[in-house]
Amino acid sequence: MKAAVLRQVGSPLLIEQVKIGKPGPHEVLIRTAAAGVCHSDLHFIEGSYPFPLPAVLGHESAGVVEQIGSEVRTVKVGDHVITCLSAYCGHCESCLTGRMSLCVSPETKRSAGQEPRLCEEVTPQRPGNMNQFLNLSSFAEQMLIHEHACVAIRKDMPLDVAALIGCSVTTGVGAVIHTSNVRAGETVAVIGCGGVGLAAINGAAIAGAGRIIAVDRFPSKLELAKSFGATDVVNANDGDAVAQVMELTSGGVHHSFEAIGLKATAEQSFKMLRRGGTANIIGMIPVGVNIELHGADFLGEKRIQGSLMGSNRFPVDMPRLVDFYLQGKLKLDQMISRRLKLEQINDAFDELRRGELARSVIVFDQ
Ligand SMILES: NC(=O)c1ccc[n+]([C@@H]2O[C@H](COP(=O)([O-])OP(=O)(O)OC[C@H]3O[C@@H](n4cnc5c(N)ncnc54)[C@H](O)[C@@H]3O)[C@@H](O)[C@H]2O)c1
Ligand SMILES: [Zn+2]
Ligand SMILES: [Zn+2]
Repeated sequence: MKAAVLRQVGSPLLIEQVKIGKPGPHEVLIRTAAAGVCHSDLHFIEGSYPFPLPAVLGHESAGVVEQIGSEVRTVKVGDHVITCLSAYCGHCESCLTGRMSLCVSPETKRSAGQEPRLCEEVTPQRPGNMNQFLNLSSFAEQMLIHEHACVAIRKDMPLDVAALIGCSVTTGVGAVIHTSNVRAGETVAVIGCGGVGLAAINGAAIAGAGRIIAVDRFPSKLELAKSFGATDVVNANDGDAVAQVMELTSGGVHHSFEAIGLKATAEQSFKMLRRGGTANIIGMIPVGVNIELHGADFLGEKRIQGSLMGSNRFPVDMPRLVDFYLQGKLKLDQMISRRLKLEQINDAFDELRRGELARSVIVFDQ
C-alpha cells in the first residue's frame, strides 16, 4: 500500500510502498478514507518530539473496516470508523478509574517478538523495519490497529469530515468539557485558532460559555473563530495579549486553553486567569523547554494543567460529536481549508508552518 514516510527529521515525507500485516485476534484492518494534517505530526517532523524512524505519520483519520481479527467484537467489516490514538486496554488503573485516555498499556501494540504491523521491502540499504506512529499511521491507504483504537459511527456522516474528530475536535472540545469542565456562563480564552483551538472555541459555545475570547496572529483566523462561536477576538500582534484579555474581562478568564505549544503562550494562558481560574495546556511544548510562573499567583487558587486528547472517552465521545455535527452544532465544514491527495502531503505541512489556514485533509481514492 501507499504511505507517507518520515525517514529523517526535518526532511519532507516520501510516498513509498509499505507492507501491512493481517489482523491479529484483537486487531482491525481499515481502508483509510481521509486523514487530517495536525500540527503534532509537524512537531515530530521537526524533531521537537523524538520518534523512532522510519515511520508512517498521521493520526487523525476515518475509514471503513476491511477485516477484523477473530476476537474483535466492537466493530465489524463494512463499519465506518473514526480512529483515535488513545488506544486503551480496558483493565489498567487509568482505564478502570475513568481516565482511559491516559492508558499506556503496551497490549494495544504488537510486542517486540511479534511480526510488526508495518514493514518495508528489505534491500541492502534498508533493513525492512517501519514504525507505526501513535498506534495508527494514518497517512497510508490502510491502517492495522487495535480494536480499541477506533469506534464505529453513523454511515450518514461524511468520512472526510469525520476524520477531524479523530484528533483536533476530540482534543479541543474535550479540553473544554472534560479536562476543564467549563460551566454555562463562564468565561473562556483560547490561544491559537488552528484546528484544535477552533474546536475548543466550538466546544465552549456548546458548553454555554458566556464569553469566548479567541487569540491568534492572523485576522483571517480570528474571523473564522467568530464563526465557531468566539464572542471577542484578540490579535496577538496588537500588543500584549494578556493585557488585552484582562481589559476585556475586567480581571481575567475562568478557563484558558493554550493550543499552540509555545513557552510564551503557555505562560500567557496562566497570566490571563482570574482568581480560581484554570489554564489548560493543549499545545505540545518542545521537549526540554520549561515554563515559568509567578509563585505568588497560586495564592489566588489559579491552576494549570495539561490536557491530552481532550481527556477523552472516545468510544462514547466520538459518536456524540458526530451527532453534534449532523445537528449543526459542530462547524466542521468550515474547519477544512483544503482537501489534498496523499502526494500533496508536504504542501499541507508547508501550509501548517505558515499558519494562515485551518485544517488540510488528505482524501484517499476509494
Ligand atoms: N494535547 C493534545 O492531546 C494535542 C492534540 C492535538 C494537537 N496538539 C497540539 O496542539 C497544538 C495546536 O495544534 P493545531 O493542529 O491546531 O495547530 P495549528 O498550527 O493549526 O494552529 C496553531 C495556531 O496558533 C497560531 N499562533 C502561532 N503562534 C502564535 C502566537 N505567538 N500567538 C497567537 N497565536 C499564534 C497560528 O496562527 C495558528 O492559527 C500543537 O502544538 C499540537 O501539537 C495537542
Ligand atoms: Zn493531532
Ligand atoms: Zn488501560
